[in-house]
Amino acid sequence: MAFASKDVTKHNLPTRNYFWPLKRYQDMYQRALTEPKAFWAEQATLLDWDKPWQKVLDWNPPYARWFVGGRLNASTQCVDRHFKSWRKNKVAIYWEGETGATRTLSYADLYHEVNAYAAALKKLGVGKGDRVTVYLPMIPELVLVMLACARIGAIHNVIFAGFSAQAIADRVNDSQSKIIITSTGGYRRGKILQLKEIVDEAVKMTPGVEKVAVVKYTGHDAAFNPEKDVWFADYMDSSCSYVKPESMEATDPLFILYTSGTTGKPKGILHGTGGYLLYAAKTMQWAFNPKEESIWWCTADVGWITGHSYGVYAPLALGLTSVMYEGAPDYPAMDRWWRIIEKYGVNIFYTSPTAIRMFMRNGEEWLANRDLSTLQVLGSVGEAINPEVWEWYCKYVGYENCPIVDTWWQTETGGFMIAPCVGIQSYPLKPGSATLPMPGIDPVVLDPDGNESAPGKTGFIAIRKPWPGMLLDVYGSPELYQQTYWSRFPGYYAAGDYSMKDQDGYWWLLGRADEVIKVSGHRISTAELEHAMVGHAMVAEAAVASKPDDVKGEAIVLFVTMRKDVEPSGELKKELIKHLRTSIGAVATPEEVIFVEKLPKTRSGKIMRRVLKAVASGIGIGDVTTLDDQTSVEEVVQAYEELKAAATKTVR
Ligand code: WT7
Repeated sequence: MAFASKDVTKHNLPTRNYFWPLKRYQDMYQRALTEPKAFWAEQATLLDWDKPWQKVLDWNPPYARWFVGGRLNASTQCVDRHFKSWRKNKVAIYWEGETGATRTLSYADLYHEVNAYAAALKKLGVGKGDRVTVYLPMIPELVLVMLACARIGAIHNVIFAGFSAQAIADRVNDSQSKIIITSTGGYRRGKILQLKEIVDEAVKMTPGVEKVAVVKYTGHDAAFNPEKDVWFADYMDSSCSYVKPESMEATDPLFILYTSGTTGKPKGILHGTGGYLLYAAKTMQWAFNPKEESIWWCTADVGWITGHSYGVYAPLALGLTSVMYEGAPDYPAMDRWWRIIEKYGVNIFYTSPTAIRMFMRNGEEWLANRDLSTLQVLGSVGEAINPEVWEWYCKYVGYENCPIVDTWWQTETGGFMIAPCVGIQSYPLKPGSATLPMPGIDPVVLDPDGNESAPGKTGFIAIRKPWPGMLLDVYGSPELYQQTYWSRFPGYYAAGDYSMKDQDGYWWLLGRADEVIKVSGHRISTAELEHAMVGHAMVAEAAVASKPDDVKGEAIVLFVTMRKDVEPSGELKKELIKHLRTSIGAVATPEEVIFVEKLPKTRSGKIMRRVLKAVASGIGIGDVTTLDDQTSVEEVVQAYEELKAAATKTVR
C-alpha cells in the first residue's frame, strides 16, 4: 500500500492558529475570577492541612476570611514537612554575614533550631496569641525566631533594624508586646550597629515589656540589665528536641508588620496563616517559576514585607534553597552582590530599582569580571522601575537572557498583585510595566468619582475582589482598617497608588496617590515625619514633600516654620535632621531643610501639598499631577510663588 503524499502542507485538517497568545495564563486567570472558591481550593493542596477547611471564603466586607475551619501550622509547612522528606539534607539557607562569615542551614538544621527556639520562647513565658517584637539584623536567628513564634502560635512583630528607639517603642506599645528579641548588634558597612543599645533606649518608653531576650552575635560588650535582659542561649536546652506545633486556624493571625500610611502613626498590618502562606507560595511559583534545584535570592531585609513573604515564608513553604546576606550591597566594594551571585550560583534574583540604580550609577565595570550566567529570572519591587533601569538590569545582570519580573504589591496585599506570570506562561514584557494581574486579582482603574477609567487613562488603582493574601485587619484598629482601605471607594480595596491600564491590558503603576513617599523603596508617611518634627521644641509647624532622586527614587524635603525668636541656622538644621533620625530612623533623613515664615495653606487651613511638591522638586506648578483638589488655580499659583521665594532665601 502506498503512503499518502508526505507534503505536510497538503492535508484536510482545518487550519488552526497554533500560536495562542496568553492562552494558558488567560484560562487560569478567567477560572480564578469566575470560580474563585474552586480555584483556590485546588491551589490550597500545595499546603499540608491538619484539618480541611469547611468554607473556602467567608466574605463579609471589608473582612475576608479564607479556608475557614481549616487548620495548619506555618512552621510545619516551612520546616517539618521538608524535614520528613528527602529534602531533609537539602540546603534551606546559605547565609553570608557582612564580615564574610558563612553558615549553611539544611532543612534538618532548621528543624532542630526552630524547635530549640520554640522551646526557649515557651520557657520565657510566650504562648499562643502573644505578640513578640523582633529587632534583629539579617542573621539566620531572625528566620528561626519568626518560625519559632509561628510554631507556638505567637504573633511576631518584626521591626526593621534601621528603625530608631522611638519607632520601636511605638510599635511595641501598639502591639502590646511583653517581650523583645534582639541581638547584641549587627554589621553594616564595617561598623557595628548597636541594636541592644537602641532597644535599651526603647525599653525606657515601653512599660509593658517584661523581658528582652538577646542573641549573642557581635562580640562587643553590650549593656546587660539583669532585671529585664536574658541571654537567649541560656534558655536553649539541647535535650529538648521537639515542640509540638500549635494547630492554628487558617484565619488566625501569623504576624503584625507596621507600615506607614497617611496618618501620623504607623499601622500594624495583621496577616493570617492559611490564606497568607498559600498566597505567598503560589504567587512566587507563578511569577518566578522556581525549580526544585533553583537557588533563590531575595535581597530585601526580612524587616519588610518582601523579606517576610519572599525571603522567609514562600521559599521555605516551597522547600527551596535561598541565599541570605546580612550587609550592605556595596561593602567592602560595589561588586559584593555580584560576588554572592557567582559564589552560590544564584538562579533567581529579586531586588529593588533603587539598588539597581545605584549599581548603574557606579558603572558596569563592577559586573564585568563576575560570572552571572546562572541567572534565569530577575525580579524588581518597591517602586516602579524606570525603563532605562529595566534595560540596564536586563542587559548587564541578565545578559539579555532573563525575563524581568516587575512585581507590584504592598505590605497589605501579602503577595504579588500584578507581575508577569513566568511560571504560568511567558508573554511579552514592556519595560516599566508590571504587566498583568495574578490569577485571582481583579484590579480596576477608578476616576475620583469612583467610575472605571478608560484604557490609557490614569486613575486610582482599586481591587474589586478579596484574595487570600489580603490583610486581616489593622491591629487594634478596625476603624483605621475600614477608613484607610475601604472608604475611598466603597466596596473596593483602595491601594493608594495611581495607575494606568494600557490598550493591551498591561498595568503601569505610577506612584502613590496619597501622602506616602518612597525613599529607596521604603515607605514613609509625610504625616509621620511632620508629627515627629513638631515634637521638637523649637519647631512651630512642619510639612514634608519629596523631590525626585536619581538613586533613591524620592528624597525628603522638609519645610519648617520655627517658634517665635528662634533664628534659623546651619546648626539648627543639623539639629532638626538629627531629631528626625532619632525619632524614626536613618531612612527618615531629609535631603533638604527649608526654613519658611509660613506654610502654603488653603482657606480651610489644609496644607497645599502640590505647592510643596512643586517647590521641593523644582518642577513648575502646572506639571504637578493632582486628581483630588478643590483649591482655585490663582490661590495655588500665588502660594507657589511665595513658597518658591522663601525657599531660595532659606539658610543653607
Ligand atoms: C507601595 C507599597 C510590596 C513590597 C515592597 C513595598 C510601591 C511596590 C511596586 C512596583 C510600582 C511599586 C507602591 C505600593 N510599589 N512595588 N513594582 N511598581 N510601585 O511594600 O512598603 O508596602 O509599599 O510600594 O506605591 O503602594 P510597601
